[in-house]
Amino acid sequence: MIKTLLAQVKEFRLVAILTPVCMLGEVICEMIIPILMGRIVDYGVMAGNVEFIIRTGAVMIVVALLGLTAGILGGFFAAKAGAGLARNLRKAMFDNIQTFSFLNIDHFSTSSLVTRLTTDVTNIQTAFMMTLRMAMRAPSTMIVAMVMSVIISPRLASIYFIAVAFLAVFMVVMMRTTTRYFKQVFERYDLMNESVQENVSAIRVVKAYVREDYENKKFRNAAEQIYEMFIRAELRIVSISPVMMGVVYSCILLISWFGANMIVSDTLTTGNLMSLLTYCMNILMSLMMLSMIFIMITMSEASARRIAEVIDEKSSLTNPENPVMEVPDGSIRFEHVDFSYDPEASEPVLKDIDLEIRAGESIGIIGGTGSAKSSLVNLISRLYDVTKGRILVGGIDVREYDLDVLRRQVAVVLQKNVLFSGTIYENLRWGDENATDEECRRACVLACAHEFIEKMPEGYNTYIEQGGTNVSGGQKQRLCIARALLRKPRILILDDSTSAVDTATDAKIRKAFAEEIPDTTRLIISQRISSVQSCDRIIVMENGRVNGFGSHEELLAGNRIYREVYESQTGEGADADFDRLT
Ligand SMILES: Nc1ncnc2c1ncn2[C@@H]1O[C@H](COP(=O)(O)OP(=O)(O)OP(=O)(O)O)[C@@H](O)[C@H]1O
Ligand SMILES: [Mg+2]
Repeated sequence: MIKTLLAQVKEFRLVAILTPVCMLGEVICEMIIPILMGRIVDYGVMAGNVEFIIRTGAVMIVVALLGLTAGILGGFFAAKAGAGLARNLRKAMFDNIQTFSFLNIDHFSTSSLVTRLTTDVTNIQTAFMMTLRMAMRAPSTMIVAMVMSVIISPRLASIYFIAVAFLAVFMVVMMRTTTRYFKQVFERYDLMNESVQENVSAIRVVKAYVREDYENKKFRNAAEQIYEMFIRAELRIVSISPVMMGVVYSCILLISWFGANMIVSDTLTTGNLMSLLTYCMNILMSLMMLSMIFIMITMSEASARRIAEVIDEKSSLTNPENPVMEVPDGSIRFEHVDFSYDPEASEPVLKDIDLEIRAGESIGIIGGTGSAKSSLVNLISRLYDVTKGRILVGGIDVREYDLDVLRRQVAVVLQKNVLFSGTIYENLRWGDENATDEECRRACVLACAHEFIEKMPEGYNTYIEQGGTNVSGGQKQRLCIARALLRKPRILILDDSTSAVDTATDAKIRKAFAEEIPDTTRLIISQRISSVQSCDRIIVMENGRVNGFGSHEELLAGNRIYREVYESQTGEGADADFDRLT
């Protein structure tokens, strides 16, 4: 984990090293000031030497300015390194997410990926910045101040040693419990984020089902729990403060008492006593800082782990060594294919699929919900890899193709398709970024989208909102089909893509396909017999197996499921449907 994160700081190694160096400079300057102060008191004020006071005062100003500059530079470098690390982490995660297969995405939820890209990175950024600034500063302040005090008066300095030892033990004990609480806070934080994201993205459903109160309560509970945990953790941190202050003031009192006695017996100067008191504050403050660093690091540990998980995740689909760069034709062959989403599942989702589809054929796929129709077609463009057997496209195993080449030639209109925010033209050009306006329009005509686009106030320049919320379900489907058509693929797969389109338009789209792109192999998944009956052949899926494969007439004559669904949908035996039959 540490290695993964460190790899992302590499570029900022120099600034990361410069920060502690600057901080060290600041510490040294800060440490010199009490000595100068002491000298002003001893040799200036006590001796009435105004010239000495002015000279030393001037030196003090210079040293203070130097310290200030070092501090500012340190802060600047730390900010640069922190922001740089954050940028690199985000980039590394995002780049890796782009390589994720569907299987990888199933593994991380979308909301958790978003949280990791945002909140977790911010946590790391802050922790890294603070650590860079303080990790050097606090211990060095402490050590220098200790050494200085010992030089001035070993006897009085021993008071610090006792105080520091006491505080160190106290803080370790406090930290232990606090860390535990913080860990819990972050786990709950995760849960809350997930609930928020799930909710906000599905706000329409929440409203449709009047679940606002329930969701509110759920969220309030999550927030409340975090609040309580934070209070408990913070209470412990705050309790450090009074103890700390008690120790500081005890030290000051003790040093003043013994110091005063020593001044009377002439073994200590007033100036030295003043320096000692300043060091006292310095030492205890750095102890406080150290404890803060400790808290920061524990707080960001969970975030670091979550980020490293994303960066280290290996895509389950990889390009072969010497990929095939061209798809010869649109034929598809399934050779005894088994497939399951979960390698440990007892029963595969697809069982022994053995099919041969010729280039340019139109194939209908029909079957009940959950009969694995989508799973079947998703294997063709290698959205998932088969568990057993193999799939050939154009006579070549899909795993031998370059992934981009394969997916360019196998266009899928997914069942859960989405449009992106942008104009209609921009959305269409996801299919082919170089498509001319004319080509875009032609694809839309084929997909029966042209008419409604023309009616929109800004036509093809109409802005589609995120997720396509300002077009209807059927319009969205037609735009998605047009987008896939622009790829000019050898194989076109429509996964229930006309479910929200009226039957007449649906028929029109199919007719256009048959006339305009007859050489493209078309696979059409549908729940409606009318959508597939004109296909050359139809696959009837049942429970992950092929139950029948043939033309409409053949299936009507020889396939019970097909015949019964056909009869139910054409009005005879009206209440039959897949789920009842299977
Ligand atoms: N991403 C996934 N992870 C795990 N299991 C899945 C996933 N997608 C689908 N399944 C399971 O695989 C089986 C087949 O699902 P599939 O989506 O292929 O059915 P379908 O025939 O397309 O159904 P529908 O007509 O409702 O779209 C189902 O039992 C489902 O629970
Ligand atoms: Mg499906």
